[in-house]
Amino acid sequence: GKGSYEHYMKKEIHEQSRAIQDCLRGRVDPETNHILLEELAELDLPATVQLVACGTSYHAARYGARLLREHGIAAQTFLASEYRAETVPVDEETLVIGVTQSGETADTMRALREANGAGAVTLALTNTVGSSAARECDHVCYIRAGPEIGVAATKTFASQQVALALVTGVLAETAEPAFLQGLAELPAQIQTVLENSQAQALADAYVDSDAYFFIGREYTAPVALEGALKMKEITYKHAEGFAAGELKHGPLALVTERTPVFALLTEGSRLEKTLGNVKEVQARGAPVIAVTDAPQTVERYVDHVLEVPSTHPYLTPILANIQLQLASYWLANRLGRSIDKPRNLAKSVTVE
Ligand code: M6R
Repeated sequence: GKGSYEHYMKKEIHEQSRAIQDCLRGRVDPETNHILLEELAELDLPATVQLVACGTSYHAARYGARLLREHGIAAQTFLASEYRAETVPVDEETLVIGVTQSGETADTMRALREANGAGAVTLALTNTVGSSAARECDHVCYIRAGPEIGVAATKTFASQQVALALVTGVLAETAEPAFLQGLAELPAQIQTVLENSQAQALADAYVDSDAYFFIGREYTAPVALEGALKMKEITYKHAEGFAAGELKHGPLALVTERTPVFALLTEGSRLEKTLGNVKEVQARGAPVIAVTDAPQTVERYVDHVLEVPSTHPYLTPILANIQLQLASYWLANRLGRSIDKPRNLAKSVTVE
């Protein structure tokens, strides 16, 4: 049950520290600095990787693809509903990873079946033992987030990101010591964010806004997309996420004093450039909420600061996203929305 929590979503947001501990358990060898995913022991190193997913899982996939590419592995992300094995080169040296919490999403299942049919090696990255994706794929890696009841995906997103970081370590056959150190510290840092977040105060200030925008760059660009998806899903308000550089290519026309902008201003994701975008929206009167690991650097430029601890740049997006989850949660709570079961949505989408 929900225990003392008002909603499953809130409970699941607060379970993220535990979820990450579970995801990591036994998978990093502190002696050798090696990542061990027993499930992937039989996997041959692929020439290329394609990730297929929907919704929040697609945002995790975008994060994973960037990480893979940064390690020299050719990786591409596809919305599962747009994936056609016949239109992309797929062969037995292609690893197709289906990122799906439920393991039952129809679009993702179709993409995985097509990939299998085209001779690809397939991997299900899922939370659900025995799910359709786990059965369809040649390999399976469990994210171990524990059951997620809220329709809005929260802890499964964090666990997918960590699991994709582990898969990257396996495929790249290397992991930086600083990154492994960051992984070890991540559960405690998540707890720090949960205990100190100032996100609740934003709900009163911005409940009447027309729309909410989210901007991020590089590692935090997928988090900007995810922040906006969560906001629209549970508040029913207009929200959009962009790669910060895209702002002036169109979305800036929508920015007014009634459109708060959440800016992911983190070291390691070109903070100075995104600060330039912050100035552009402020010149149009938009309030700016920074999610940052560098409060001293950014606070004089923004209206609110949601702080996250410093960590390895690969892991900052996981911490930053938790602040955005809380911001959406408190706004939806203030609006009295049906947070755990938003209108028109289902936990698992089993039709294409
Ligand atoms: O079970 P899956 O991870 O395949 O689900 C994919 C999407 O339906 C899911 O992430 C959806 O976008 C969430 N409700 C977002 O919170």
